[in-house]
Amino acid sequence: MALQDKIQELMEMRAKARLGGGEKRIESQHKKGKYTARERIDLLLDEGSFEEFDMFVSHRTVDFGLDKQSYLSDGVVTGYGTIDGRLVYIFSQDFTVFGGSLSEMYAQKICKVMDKAMKVGAPVIGINDSGGARIQEGVKSLGGYADIFQRNILASGLIPQISAIFGPCAGGAVYSPALTDFTIMSKGTSYMFVTGPKVVKTVTGEVVTEEELGGASVHGTKSGVAHFVAEDENEGILLIRKLLSYLPQNNLEDPPLAPCDDPIDRLDDVLNEIIPENPNKPYDVKDVIHSVVDYNEFLEVQRRYAPNIITGFARFNGQSVGIVANQPSYLAGVLDINASRKAARFVRFCDSFNIPIVTFVDVPGFLPGTAQEYGGIILHGAKLLFAYGEATVPKVTIILRKAYGGAYDVMSSKHLRGDINYSWPAAEIAVMGPRGAIEVLHAKELSQIEDPHERAVYVAEKEEEYKQKFANPYVAAKYGFIDDVIEPRNTRFRVIRALQMLNTKKDQNPPKKHSNMPL
Ligand code: HXC
Repeated sequence: MALQDKIQELMEMRAKARLGGGEKRIESQHKKGKYTARERIDLLLDEGSFEEFDMFVSHRTVDFGLDKQSYLSDGVVTGYGTIDGRLVYIFSQDFTVFGGSLSEMYAQKICKVMDKAMKVGAPVIGINDSGGARIQEGVKSLGGYADIFQRNILASGLIPQISAIFGPCAGGAVYSPALTDFTIMSKGTSYMFVTGPKVVKTVTGEVVTEEELGGASVHGTKSGVAHFVAEDENEGILLIRKLLSYLPQNNLEDPPLAPCDDPIDRLDDVLNEIIPENPNKPYDVKDVIHSVVDYNEFLEVQRRYAPNIITGFARFNGQSVGIVANQPSYLAGVLDINASRKAARFVRFCDSFNIPIVTFVDVPGFLPGTAQEYGGIILHGAKLLFAYGEATVPKVTIILRKAYGGAYDVMSSKHLRGDINYSWPAAEIAVMGPRGAIEVLHAKELSQIEDPHERAVYVAEKEEEYKQKFANPYVAAKYGFIDDVIEPRNTRFRVIRALQMLNTKKDQNPPKKHSNMPL
């Protein structure tokens, strides 16, 4: 064959591979409001940057008539490219080939990009749209999944791993995204569950739809499995690009510094009045966050899950930070099981990837009650405590208002190696709120006062005494647990100065195999 013919043959094979499962199945994919695997890659990566691996791979199964049915690329498109000029590795499952189901060779292709990503030190993005294990391949497919899981585990904390779910993701297949750092689901076109509606009905009698069982809204609100819920794939792809802009390439690098014209000493007078006179009145802590960060830009993570705590990324003078904040406008910002888990995972992610943590505290304590105790709030709360205490990245904490009880300790306090701990003048830092404290401290006296009016006057008097003594930041400041009490409108400047000062911070945990955090 002449060279020209060989080149022609190559072109034809490439064209065939690019067609995946064929025009009809591509059409059907589009009809469902979904892009194909290759279209997704084109949209996600910088134009013309994609280099594909293993286009000519095909399966080697002969059972169930598969010897007569084979497609180049075998149902997954893999390779590397750039996002905003930065290297990323990618795999994108192709639903048009055997429903995107995972075969032995398909798994090998994914493992190849993951191995390269770990060696080179660049993020991996996986786009999931698959019917799960390729049934015809049996245990070879199950083994392939486990090979991927093993790599997800080894890559954890080494390189950022991001999963987009743009179609089905069922059975054990869900565990790969679950092992990655962030999961993004598209509304209406994606679902994730360990067992589907049919099995659920057989085993438990429960009748549910796919959407009710594992749609984006379920995982964005109830389970916390999805960190982001996108209106559609376009928004999901933009979210991936945005998220990556806050992250370093790997655990040995710092996140990229963004150019910043937003003045570092920008004052916001509104902050001087944002805390209501009545300590039981809520306000939206997101107003504080938006006010102080660069260009008021905040990328919130797990927005609808456990909204009593806020997590997300922002920048201070171009420097990427992770923000954790109690949200007084939802359940008074109380720490419960879900909030503790949500924030703990976020803090650990930031610490893995050298992203400083800025914490805004306004927390009345842990949520009381049997539901929380039976659900293990002791262990879950300990996760957040552990995550903060273990983190060695710069930690800047601002107590806005309440910091009561164990929650004071947990929320990046000085005692957990908080580097800079500021408070606003309205802070109340104590073992418990005035009402509860008076009932304990003066139980005997109260039991002897029968007249309700007299009792109320006594309680008010004692509460005032208690507030004078404890419901302020100066007791904590007296002991050096608070480095300074700052004027709220100047918070942006003070946080930026603190972060600049901490830029070269080095801290270490004792050498060990790994810790045993309370799971
Ligand atoms: C082989 C599969 C497949 C699979 C789908 N296909 N799933 N082939 N193995 N797992 C094929 C179909 O035969 C069909 O081929 C094409 O993909 C598209 O599938 P449709 O059913 O026509 O599409 P749709 O109606 O959109 O339904 C999609 C689906 C459904 C909901 C994903 O296909 C489905 O339920 N598939 C089985 C899902 C499943 O139970 N997987 C195993 C989960 S357990 P043609 O040739 O007609 O286009 C698991 C264990 C992992 O994955 C364990 C890891 C540890």
